[in-house]
Formats: sequence, structure tokens, C-alpha cells
Amino acid sequence: MKGVVLAGGAGSRLRPITFAMSKQLVPVANQPILFYGLRDLAEAGITEVAIIISPETGKEIREAVGDGSRFGITPEFILQENPDGLAHALKLAMPFADGDSVLMYLGDNLVRQGVSDVVRDFEKHQPNAQILLAEVPNPSAFGVAQLDDEGHVYQLIEKPADPPTNLALVGVYLFDSTVNEALDAIEPSHRGELEITDAIQYMIDSGRRVRASMIGGWWKDTGKKEDLLHASELVLDSLRTSLKGEVIDCRLRGEIQVGLGSKLVDCDIIGPVVIGDGVEIERSTIGPNTTIGDGCRITDAVVRKSILMEEVELSHWRLRDSLVGRRASIGGSAPPAFVELTVGERSEIIG
Ligand code: DAU
Repeated sequence: MKGVVLAGGAGSRLRPITFAMSKQLVPVANQPILFYGLRDLAEAGITEVAIIISPETGKEIREAVGDGSRFGITPEFILQENPDGLAHALKLAMPFADGDSVLMYLGDNLVRQGVSDVVRDFEKHQPNAQILLAEVPNPSAFGVAQLDDEGHVYQLIEKPADPPTNLALVGVYLFDSTVNEALDAIEPSHRGELEITDAIQYMIDSGRRVRASMIGGWWKDTGKKEDLLHASELVLDSLRTSLKGEVIDCRLRGEIQVGLGSKLVDCDIIGPVVIGDGVEIERSTIGPNTTIGDGCRITDAVVRKSILMEEVELSHWRLRDSLVGRRASIGGSAPPAFVELTVGERSEIIG
């Protein structure tokens, strides 16, 4: 089986963060989201992996993934000129698949339990396609499945205004080579994309065997800030303490990681908190559920339930539920209360 990871697309729901960076490289616990998926594939024994990239962020993705050896995969990068849909991206990877089965993994998804179990299930039952489902409170944000009394999927609808069930399609799909016929047959949807849901519906309607199983453990599509912060919380939940930097006169509670060359002075750190390398923090309260990227400088501030990317400078403000892009700077006289911010790369906010 080969892997196809989708790391193209426009990332419009995470703007302004995604004006300057790919959404798949936004960090969760200081690791780009994409890396979790690549590790999941390697763990399931899938080492040949096509990574779909866009003209805007492809270079950044290539550089971040490199030769793939640290994940245990061999990547092949495939350029998708326009975000013409998930099925379009898969179609571009079909020559790479070369008749093998494929596991398609959406590069902005996080799957707690990995994909080894679903790969085993697919190999055991040998359906033409296999999808994973999860119960969600907001099904109209996803592809939604309808199952018959025996648990067989008979209908898939992409982002329905009036969802018939709360069963969302998770961003992990497995196909054998019969998917080719569906990819050739479908037409662009009303939003102009070749939809993977339409391709799978085509397979169902033409009598192919499409197997659906419920996902075990949590799953998160990190397309929006709230989801990203929630994903971060879920990942940080299994954090273990490791203090590599200097911690001077600080009050520590819960699980905390402090990276190499970092220095914390007179701070309250409430885990789970991940602090990267070369970070300096003074007289501040950090956490819970917070990630501070490499090289950040924080003084006299409070940061709760937030992600600060690399080299952010922050003083005096109190942030919660915030996402702050690389090299942003927030300072001056701060508002009296906590604020929730989404700040793009290199932005400057002076109160
Ligand atoms: O996360 C699960 C959901 O993913 C499913 O429930 C939906 O059925 C499915 O359509 C998809 O919906 P999204 O709206 O979340 O898809 P999004 O546009 O965010 O794209 C998912 C990933 O694929 C993302 O990493 C960007 C990448 N992508 C997307 C498009 C449209 C590409 O590489 N090329 C593309 O053309």
C-alpha cells in the first residue's frame, strides 16, 4: 500500500496565519500537524508516500519534510496547480500509486490512534474503499455518511446544510485501484471541486464494496483556530515533563517541557505546557494548554490555552485562546482584560 498525503489547498479558514505559511505546518505541541500523519503512515508500514503540494506553500513543505528519513518514509512531492478538490489531488497521485492500494491522509487531520488498525482491517476484508467515521456535534462542516441497518454506507453528502446524521467522514480513506474509474467519472461539484465524497458515492452506486468503520480514540480536523487549539489540548494531555533549560525561581505545576537553551525566571507555569528551545520568559504566567515556539521572548505577560509560534515577542498582554504567528510582536500598554487573538506572521500589535 502507498500513502497519499494532501498538503496543498488554500487554508482560507486559518487566515491570517495561512497568508504566510501552510496550514499543515502550523505546530501542535511544537510539531507541524503534517508530521503526525507522516509518522502514522510509517508506523502502519506505509513508506512510499506522495505528498500533494501547492505552488504557494510547496517549497516550505518540501523543506520541512526533507528526505523523509526522520519519519521513516520516502516522499515524492506532486504539485497541484490549483486547489481543485480532494479527488483531483488523489487523481494526480494515481500514476505514483501504479495499481497499488492507497491510503489518502488529509494533511491537516490528527488521528489519535494512528492508522495501523484501519490498514489491517482493509487488508483483512479487502473492500474497494474504506472510510472512517466519527460522531461530531457539527456535521454540516464535514462530509456526512448515512448507514443502513446493517452498518453499510449508502450515501455520502459533502457539508450538507441539513445533515441527515452526525457521522462525519474522517480525513483518512483507503482505496484499491478501482477508485480510478470513479475519479475519471465524477464532475466538479457546485463549488468547483472534484469531491472525494462524490468519488466514493460513485463507487457505492456502481456496486463496489465500500466499508465504513467508526474511529476509535479522538480525531481532529485542524482547519479552524478553535479546532487547532482543541487538537493541541488533546495532544498535550499525554505530555510528560522534561526540563532541559534553566528554570529559576519558578512555580511549576503539572506536566511541563522546557527545551534546550531556554531560560525561565520568576514564572508560574501551569502544565500541560510545551516551551521550545532558546526561549526566554520572565515574570509571566504560562498555561495550561499552551505551546511556546522556539526563540520566543515573553515578559510580564499571561498566556493561557494558546499557541505561540517561533520567535514571538510578547510583553504585558494577557492572552487566551490565541494563535500567534511566527515573529509577531505584541507589546505596549496592554488592554485591562484577557484578549483572544489570531495574529499573522511578523505582525506587530502595540497597545
Ligand atoms: O477533515 C475531514 C473532512 O475533510 C471531510 O469530512 C470532508 O468530507 C472532506 O471534504 C474534507 O473537508 P475539508 O473542508 O476539511 O477539506 P479541506 O479543503 O480543508 O482540505 C483537506 C486537506 O487537503 C487540507 O490539508 C488541504 C488539502 N487539499 C485540499 C484541497 C481542496 C489539497 O491538498 N488539495 C485540494 O485541492
